[in-house]
Amino acid sequence: MTEDGNGNGSADFVVVANRLPVDLDRGSDGTQRWTASPGGLVSALEPFLRSRKGAWVGWPGVPGVEVEPFSDEGMVLYPVTLTAEDVRDYYEGFSNATLWPLYHDVVERPVFDRSWWESYVKVNRRFAEASAKVAAGGATVWIQDYQLQLVPSMLRELRPDLRIGFFLHIPFPPVELFMQLPWRAEIVRGLIGADLVGFHRPGGAQNFLWLARTLVGLEPSRGAVGVRSRPGMMQVGNRTVRVGAFPISIDAAGLDTLARSKQVSERTAELRRDLGNPKTVLLGVDRLDYTKGIDLRLQALHELLHEGRVKPEDVTFIQLATPSRERVEHYQRMRSDIEQMVGRINGEFSRVGHPVVHYLHQSVSRTELAAFYSAADVMVVTPLRDGMNLVCKEYVACRHDLGGALVLSEFAGAAAELTSAFLVNPHDLDGVKNALEAAITLDPAEGRRRMRALRRQVLTHDVDRWARSFLEALGSEPAS
Ligand code: ADP
Ligand code: F6P
Repeated sequence: MTEDGNGNGSADFVVVANRLPVDLDRGSDGTQRWTASPGGLVSALEPFLRSRKGAWVGWPGVPGVEVEPFSDEGMVLYPVTLTAEDVRDYYEGFSNATLWPLYHDVVERPVFDRSWWESYVKVNRRFAEASAKVAAGGATVWIQDYQLQLVPSMLRELRPDLRIGFFLHIPFPPVELFMQLPWRAEIVRGLIGADLVGFHRPGGAQNFLWLARTLVGLEPSRGAVGVRSRPGMMQVGNRTVRVGAFPISIDAAGLDTLARSKQVSERTAELRRDLGNPKTVLLGVDRLDYTKGIDLRLQALHELLHEGRVKPEDVTFIQLATPSRERVEHYQRMRSDIEQMVGRINGEFSRVGHPVVHYLHQSVSRTELAAFYSAADVMVVTPLRDGMNLVCKEYVACRHDLGGALVLSEFAGAAAELTSAFLVNPHDLDGVKNALEAAITLDPAEGRRRMRALRRQVLTHDVDRWARSFLEALGSEPAS
């Protein structure tokens, strides 16, 4: 790491996230390789940071390993070590068994454990110290997501010269739910160390402004926050902190190009052939997470089959589910429920060689994923709560043929933008069934009309626009 005379690092633009964009995968024979990290944060930010030649501070995904900084196609990656206890208490505990359920409308009960909180504080400090070493004088540091909400203030104390942004990739909860958190004021104080705090939706920004007034005694502006415009503002000492809404997106042009490639179109045809050319292919693509509503889409399918509204010989449902947070109890329970439902549907409705549900508990490559999207007549995205959901945008970006239909939960942030989808309330099972049936029997001309409107939105609001609008509001990007 090059340092200037003040002991600062050399990076002018630094992303700080819990995970690096790549995970260290260690084979039982001692071999090591780097694989893509799971989740939407990495899918969204990685292409942007590569083009920007920035630095990325994060955990390499396995406990107890010390890895030297290294370059990866234009980015420099700075690994932060987490011990096995840190992973248990900070990552699986406070991040994913306290904050994750609390911020997702308590669809599972959050666990409040004081020792997990202590670990969260300790690990956030480690990330702040690592970022302080990497950033050049006056650099922009962009901190990501709920795992690192204390880093903005900790880093500001260490390096007041930096321009600091924070973006939350998950929903920010209603204030009544946030107020349950025993460490609520500490989290708000952590976030206001940033110059700009960003959320997906104006509602999250508005909730945060209310909490800053109530819990920290600040006096935020009172006007309504807009999308990419009219941020809220508050004075924190001699600094102005802005609070805004910046809906994240995908590398839409990149996916569109990939989906048009010969490799993807050949693989798409092959997939449909392998499935026995069913009339309708339905698809779900998610991290295996209880917020994603995988169970209720299976239940909807089960009832439609039972009622004869959908014929088992006509449909194939593919569920791709990336393994996620497998040691957290909520996740273990959900996985076994989902796998039981898959077994039950297949037991009742499959024929030899033709299972109704194909369940793949694995990650697939980008090219393979584009082929799955291209092969699917109906994309089923039914989270009970989701900050944005990138999967639905990826599906749309892959449908240059204007084919396919999107069934999308109203409780995904993306629903505010993708209004030509079949929007459903995932708590209303009859509503989900009706929407699935409507999507399966959709008139092709109406389908093309809807898909054209969806594509207009996704292709003009890509991840580059998201990042630029955030960085402009942070004051570290010239206005375009
Ligand atoms: P989250 O960030 O909660 O995981 P998103 O929908 O925003 O949810 O992002 C998920 C990302 O992970 C998308 O880019 C999607 O393509 C990718 N993904 C999900 N499941 C799989 C899978 N089985 N194989 C490959 N990529 C996947
Ligand atoms: O935005 C949701 C998110 O938690 C990201 O922070 C993370 O990159 C992704 O989902 C995957 O989760 P995890 O890092 O816990 O596997």
